[in-house]
Amino acid sequence: MSALVLNNVRKVYQSGEDHIVALDHASLTVGAEEILALVGPSGSGKTTLLSIAGGLLSPSEGEVLVGGEAITAYSAKQLTDFRRNSVGFVFQSVNLVPFLNARENLLVVAEFSKREKKAARERAERLLDELGLGHRMNNLPGQLSGGERQRVAIGRALMNEPALVLIDEPTSALDTKLGEQVMELIVGEVKARNTAAVIVTHDQRMTHYADRTVAITDGVLAA
Ligand SMILES: Nc1ncnc2c1ncn2[C@@H]1O[C@H](COP(=O)(O)OP(=O)(O)OP(=O)(O)O)[C@@H](O)[C@H]1O
Ligand SMILES: [Mg+2]
Repeated sequence: MSALVLNNVRKVYQSGEDHIVALDHASLTVGAEEILALVGPSGSGKTTLLSIAGGLLSPSEGEVLVGGEAITAYSAKQLTDFRRNSVGFVFQSVNLVPFLNARENLLVVAEFSKREKKAARERAERLLDELGLGHRMNNLPGQLSGGERQRVAIGRALMNEPALVLIDEPTSALDTKLGEQVMELIVGEVKARNTAAVIVTHDQRMTHYADRTVAITDGVLAA
């Protein structure tokens, strides 16, 4: 079964008198264990597409299926559960909880029973370690660099082992070497769990980590 299907998705933003067509008849299928790179210039609709796939934004037209379920037919409550349990989202503007340290930002995404707490803490620490943040686990987001905050957000997205991981520009704030390390971690985690990912990137050097690359221009996906 496909991890993600977009069927003729259209998104029109209304701002006052103006309307902007951010996505136009976008159709896309991402396989159950596929890593897809989405590339395109600024303003081409990449974040819009990811937000729709993650149930954060509803399309103006069209259908979205995640793991075979039509999320476009979900109620508000179903969408909340879906966002919490089924997708891992890393936003372009990293949004960590400012008063929680790096480790706590990973643990906050799930509620654990007492027995699971120790395992969750170990998983959070292992992920942070692999992301090169082993020495920054007790720091608050305000005490971290932009690239470090981005890596915490990646750890948080992977924390609950979602079936679909959506990542907006994971390497934009990182130098080449760190960017490659972070991509290797993402790809390793996604492949190890047989899950799927859509990774938005400007950086052509990062696309070789993906199984497939799709280009987007002015809201239109390349055939
Ligand atoms: N909330 C909004 N209201 C109105 N227009 C919007 C809104 N969000 C995005 N847009 C417009 O929709 C288009 C697509 O935006 P989107 O954020 O999806 O682009 P992007 O490919 O992610 O760009 P970038 O690489 O700069 O992040 C742009 O023209 C943008 O200005
Ligand atoms: Mg964007």
